[in-house]
Amino acid sequence: MARVIKRRRRRAAPTAPLTVRGLIERSARRLRRARLCFGHGTDNARDEAASLVLHALHLPHTGGLSLYRRRVSPAGAARAGHLIGRRIAERVPAAYLTGVAWFAGLPFTVDARVLIPRSPLAEVIERGFAPWAAPKRIRRVLDLGTGSACIAIAAARALPGAHVDAVDISAAALEVARINVRRHRLTRRVRLIESDHFSALARTRYDLIIANPPYVGARELGGLPPEYRHEPRLALAAGPRGLDSVAIILREAHRHLTPGGLLIVEVGNTEGAVRRAYPGLPFLWLSFARGGGGVFLLTREQLVAH
Ligand SMILES: C[S@@+](CC[C@H](N)C(=O)[O-])C[C@H]1O[C@@H](n2cnc3c(N)ncnc32)[C@H](O)[C@@H]1O
Repeated sequence: MARVIKRRRRRAAPTAPLTVRGLIERSARRLRRARLCFGHGTDNARDEAASLVLHALHLPHTGGLSLYRRRVSPAGAARAGHLIGRRIAERVPAAYLTGVAWFAGLPFTVDARVLIPRSPLAEVIERGFAPWAAPKRIRRVLDLGTGSACIAIAAARALPGAHVDAVDISAAALEVARINVRRHRLTRRVRLIESDHFSALARTRYDLIIANPPYVGARELGGLPPEYRHEPRLALAAGPRGLDSVAIILREAHRHLTPGGLLIVEVGNTEGAVRRAYPGLPFLWLSFARGGGGVFLLTREQLVAH
C-alpha cells in the first residue's frame, strides 16, 4: 500500500495588488539606484517615476488622489517597466519618452528636435512680465530661439492682446513649434519664422524681446551628463565661452526694440562670463521663487547707451 505522506502545504502570504502608488514607488527606487541626472523638467526620481508610470498607464496627471489607489494590470506594469528600463539604459530624458513637457502650467509636445522646456523664464511670463512691464502695453513680442515655442505660446497666453514672432534657425525645431502653436490654437497670434537671430526680421520692432538662446560653453558642454546628449546640440552649444549667441543679441537687439522696450535673456551658468565680457552694461539679474537664475533684463535705452 502506498504510503500517503501528508505534507503540510505552506500557504503563500497573500500579495497585495499592485497599485499606481506602489508602481511609482517601485519605479522611483529603480531610478534612484541608477543614479541618473534629473534636470529636464523634474528634479527627483519620484516625480520622474510618476510621470513615466502615469504615461504608461494612460492616466492623467490631474486625476486626484484616488487615481493612486487604482490597481495596475500586469500589462500596464510591463509597459511602465519598459519605459523605466529605457530611461535607465539609454539615459533618455523622461519628456522625450512621454512626448510631453510642461512649461508655465501648459503642456507642450516635445521630441529630440527641440530642447525640453525648463526655463525659469516661465515665472516672469506667468506674471505677465510685471513688474517690469505693464502687460497691457505689450503689443508685439519676439521669442528668439523658440524651440518648442513654449515661451512664445506661454507669452501669448499671458498677454492676450499681444502678437508674438517666434524665431528659430532650426527648421526641424519649427516643425515641433508648429504642432504646439496649433495645439494651443494660437495660429493667429504666434507667427513662426525661420531665421538666424534677427536676420529675417527686417526692421520689425517689438515691445519685448525674450530669449533663451544657446549659452553652453565648450568645456561645460563636454562635461554634461548623458541625458543632455539627446537634446539638439544647436540648442545648447554657443562657442568656447558660451557667449556666441548672447553677443549677437546684445549687439543687435536695440534695432528691434520700441522706445522703452525690454530685452530679457536667459544665460544660465554663463552669467559669470557675461558679466566679465560686458562690465559696462547695467544688467538687472532677476531672481526666481521656484529656483534657477542667470536671467538678465535690459531696456532699449540701456543697450543704446552702451
Ligand atoms: C536653449 S534652446 C531654447 C528653446 C526654447 N526657447 C526653450 O526655452 O525651451 C535655444 C534655441 O535656439 C535655437 N537657435 C540656435 N542658434 C540660433 C540662431 N543662430 N538663430 C535663431 N535660433 C537659434 C535652437 O535651435 C534652439 O531651439
